[in-house]
Amino acid sequence: MAKKIKETHSTDSTSSLQAMDKIIALAKNRGFIFAGSEIYGGLANSWDLGPLGTELKRNIKDLWWKMFVESRPDVVGLDANIIMSTKAWEASGHLKNFNDELVECRSCHERQRGDELEADKKKKLDDIACPKCGNKDWTKPAMFNTMFKTNLGPVESPENTVYLRPETAQAMFVDFPEIVRVARKKLPFGIAQIGKAFRNEITPGNFIFRLREFEQMEIEYFIEPPKTKKDWEKYFDGWLKEIHTYLETLGVDMKRVKDTEVAKEDRAHYSERTVDIEFVYPFGQKELYGLAYRGDYDLKAHGLKYKDPESGKEFIPHVIEPSFGVERTLLALLLSAYREEDAPTASGDTEKRVVMKFPKEIAPVKVAILPLSNKEELIKESKSVWENLRGHFATEYDDTQSIGKRYRRQDEIGTPYCVTVDFESLEDKKVTVRDRDTMKQDRVEISKLEGYLAGKLK
Ligand code: GAP
Repeated sequence: MAKKIKETHSTDSTSSLQAMDKIIALAKNRGFIFAGSEIYGGLANSWDLGPLGTELKRNIKDLWWKMFVESRPDVVGLDANIIMSTKAWEASGHLKNFNDELVECRSCHERQRGDELEADKKKKLDDIACPKCGNKDWTKPAMFNTMFKTNLGPVESPENTVYLRPETAQAMFVDFPEIVRVARKKLPFGIAQIGKAFRNEITPGNFIFRLREFEQMEIEYFIEPPKTKKDWEKYFDGWLKEIHTYLETLGVDMKRVKDTEVAKEDRAHYSERTVDIEFVYPFGQKELYGLAYRGDYDLKAHGLKYKDPESGKEFIPHVIEPSFGVERTLLALLLSAYREEDAPTASGDTEKRVVMKFPKEIAPVKVAILPLSNKEELIKESKSVWENLRGHFATEYDDTQSIGKRYRRQDEIGTPYCVTVDFESLEDKKVTVRDRDTMKQDRVEISKLEGYLAGKLK
């Protein structure tokens, strides 16, 4: 029987910033996330996802799509262009209002968001020291539009100016009439989209928390104009629950998830209620997702209406919007999964191990195939085992280094099952399957291995 594993979290408040450093180091070492354009000295706060990060991100998005589109009768998908007509951004108010408050330190020219500095420090700008040089001499706040601008076609001219979308939401409003025509859905129903969004943030940072290029998963849920507050609140409350269920299924530490009501003065002017779903990151409790009741603002802005197919009545639907950031999810998930444990060794001692306890269905690699040694017969048998499992599960084959080091690597990337092929395997046609969490080992017939793993990973 496997000995008990003593778990130590490194995510409590005392070691929190240390926890962040550990996550960044692990993400880089193991190929989840590394700095973009690194051979050219990097590009301010751009991060690329390596093989494991790519798989993990795909699993985050797949679970979202499965829960919110495939499993629901009332939500359909959309995959719209990143570049939309500039008229759409004019109508939505983004050209005028998608601004951040830019301030610059007069001494060292450090640029910051004035509103955020004031909110963080709970002081007026004049009393806040520049984080770079310590002086308290800021320029007056200027409004800076954070949409990325480019040109459509070869000629740079005002008529050809277009923008990279700062949110996926707008296409779901602009394409509303087409979706109503083809999807044959009656209200209430939603449109969902996953895709890139771009914001020329003044202060990107905190690893992948605030980026200039990121992905969103958004739903615009259209309802009839409510007669009473209760008529929209029931949908709002329902979506809030759904967001929590998604986070729990994904394996995010729910003790670190907090819902914060956004005060009227901090909400977008059209929003009658916004709840920020926040996560306690090592650098503080910050927004993970947003849920907003947007009234009829959006469809009205684009001059769009809905005609009820039964009554023939025309009206402007109202919108509930759950909005999820993919990279913030990835960061919350990495932080939630990270464990340091005292694990028993074969010789009866204990050793420290780092293990990423992703839910099995979310882990980037599900099964690792490890020959016990580099002997030709073992490699041959292991590759045959690998070939039978590939295509059924996300697998990895590894015949480098000692078996101990390979187990450690698989724990660090959160692989739920390691299959070891040893010399006995050649005789009895069985392999050893090690469970990541319990470290218990089962001897399983090779012919039954796929079914055994499928049952475990269901
Ligand atoms: N359509 C509504 C909307 O875009 P938002 O609060 O501006 O609302 C929604 O963004 C979500 O997108 C955020 O909760 C966050 O998860 C993610 N997000 C926003 N800006 C981001 C950034 N600069 N970097 C990474 N994620 C970001």
